[in-house]
Amino acid sequence: MAKKKHEVARAIRVILLLWAVILLGGQSIMVAQEKLPVPAWSKETKEQKNKRMEWWTHDRFGMFIHWGLYALPARHEWVKHNEKMTNEQYQKYFDHFNPDLYQPKLWAARAKAAGMKYVTITTKHHEGFCLWDSKYTDYKSTNTPCHRDLIKELVDACRAEGLRVGFYYSLIDWHHPDFPYDNLHPEAPKDSATRAEANKHRDLKKYQQYMKNQLAELLTNYGQIDELFLDFSYEKDQYKMWDAEGLLQVVRRLQPQIIVDDRLGLGDDNPWGWDYKTPEQYMPVEWPRVNGEQVPWETCQTFSGSWGYHRDEASWKSVPQLVVLLIETVSKGGNLLLNVGPTARGEFDYRANDRLDGIAEWMSRHNRAIYGCTQAPQQFQKPDKCLLTYNPETKRLYVHVLDWPCCGGLPLPGFKGKFKYAQLLNDASEVRFNEDKDKDLVNLSIPVQKPNVAVPVIELFLE
Ligand code: GLC
Repeated sequence: MAKKKHEVARAIRVILLLWAVILLGGQSIMVAQEKLPVPAWSKETKEQKNKRMEWWTHDRFGMFIHWGLYALPARHEWVKHNEKMTNEQYQKYFDHFNPDLYQPKLWAARAKAAGMKYVTITTKHHEGFCLWDSKYTDYKSTNTPCHRDLIKELVDACRAEGLRVGFYYSLIDWHHPDFPYDNLHPEAPKDSATRAEANKHRDLKKYQQYMKNQLAELLTNYGQIDELFLDFSYEKDQYKMWDAEGLLQVVRRLQPQIIVDDRLGLGDDNPWGWDYKTPEQYMPVEWPRVNGEQVPWETCQTFSGSWGYHRDEASWKSVPQLVVLLIETVSKGGNLLLNVGPTARGEFDYRANDRLDGIAEWMSRHNRAIYGCTQAPQQFQKPDKCLLTYNPETKRLYVHVLDWPCCGGLPLPGFKGKFKYAQLLNDASEVRFNEDKDKDLVNLSIPVQKPNVAVPVIELFLE
């Protein structure tokens, strides 16, 4: 009876935890930590931090790549967890991993064509499989039928295209023998006493060292790495489990310029412990703030709900939806990291290519409404059914028209006397306008027919 009660309580805990994971889109769900002393090695002025992040804030748009053994089952990158597979059951994916069509040059070329400026790839996801030739494990691509260091090849291809490189590294590891059994581990014994007993044979210190060694390897052997996406903390005080401070010190020592996400679990009160916020799979209502101040942020988003290749997932976003996602992100001062989950043959799936082509088409004519842009100054309120982005250097304001009006006019309340010239961005055709005599209002004369682009943009040259 007591056991039953215990099991019910545990089930409720797991449901609550998973619910929180779903609600928060899987990102860090721990609450803010206490304020820790600022380590000497992390000291940096605000100006220095802005400088370090300058390229990133300018570029705005990157490609996320989730690739690993889970591309074979092709039913979500959490498949090992979802189906409670043992290492033994999962082994068949390792044995059959052979992406013979992998040509990273094609991936890099596609990212570049879509206007993405950096590529962040999973070097290791929660399953623990490593896509590079790590000397700290046998569980790596070079030991599968593929025999290739997939990371090295991608890094080279990105550099050749002038793209920056980011690494995603999972803090969670469902394969490493010293990673403790927790609520998410696929093989964790259900009963807590058995679990505690099993965890006595798992040495957390060894796992911490493993992470440090691997990150040191990744940040030493592959040249300059521009972004680091560590994933993720889900329990209170979990930063202790990762030895977050020790880990970050290794990272910063090896690559002082690197930009690190916020999922080590150091929390809002320790801003030295992260560079940017990572809202996942949702759009913040406004520019995210920490202690009242707007902070750098990058939202990561999928084409279709799963990060890893998912053959049967059908909820693919359309090209216009994705373009709006990018615009809205920039209109709130953020970056977009848009994910592709390549197949187990090593290709981008046709649906991903279709979306990337559509984005490329739009970006080829509209990218100056994205790069170097940010939220519009406060005096400009976004007109009905529009979004605004603004380039403070060139002093141009971009009106992204989400729903093209029917009758040849677009009213801009509050814009009187604020700009001197207007044009459609896709073809630089003049947009004439007149200012209202009485009210603070400008009427743009726009064509009745919507320009033949996913989202038309009007470029305003400010006074
Ligand atoms: C989550 C998920 C994961 C995905 C990641 C992307 O934390 O666990 O599968 O890699 O978010 O941000």
